[in-house]
Amino acid sequence: MLGEMPGSMSARLDPRPLTRDMCRGDLADVIEVERRIYDFPWTEGNFRDAIEAGYHASVLEFDRHLVGYRVMMIGPGEAHLLNLSIAHAWQRRGFGRHLLLASMREARLAAALTMFLEVRPSNAPGIALYGDLGFRQVGVRKGYYPAADGREDAWVMSLPL
Ligand SMILES: CC(C)(COP(=O)(O)OP(=O)(O)OC[C@H]1O[C@@H](n2cnc3c(N)ncnc32)[C@H](O)[C@@H]1OP(=O)(O)O)[C@@H](O)C(=O)NCCC(=O)NCCS
Repeated sequence: MLGEMPGSMSARLDPRPLTRDMCRGDLADVIEVERRIYDFPWTEGNFRDAIEAGYHASVLEFDRHLVGYRVMMIGPGEAHLLNLSIAHAWQRRGFGRHLLLASMREARLAAALTMFLEVRPSNAPGIALYGDLGFRQVGVRKGYYPAADGREDAWVMSLPL
């Protein structure tokens, strides 16, 4: 968890990254990142709806840059991670792991017992990150995602919190 990070990680991410609520003023930056890293990005309306619906939408800032964001829905007993993204230029520096650990901590504080997410089977970086933090595949949603050649399944992964 954030407060329990080993010293080496803190040093690697010095100054420390800051997680704060996503607001409408962030949407232009968020959408720019989203369009750069996904073939089928969320729209600005998707993010606006998530904020207005009261989902747990946060941005991750580092050294005054927006380096990533995540959207999570928390219901009775469970959390659903809907979007976890790190800007292309900031990937592979530990920010995805950091934001996911912060999300797990936030979900636990909101009394969630399990976290769920969907991921494309073709998304090797995402699957590696989730597997590393203990998520396991618990199901498949057939044809869940749009894809260049039709539809792609989603793996449903879960983690006991
Ligand atoms: C997936 C994503 C969130 C990972 O964030 P990141 O900041 O780049 O990843 P981290 O540096 O925190 O890496 C944590 C672990 O994830 C795995 N990982 C991350 N990127 C990887 C890659 N390109 N290839 C293989 N494993 C990778 C590794 O296990 C890594 O641990 P290690 O550095 O000790 O090897 C980021 O690449 C991203 O935003 N990708 C595009 C959007 C996306 O796919 N989001 C997830 C949708 S479900």
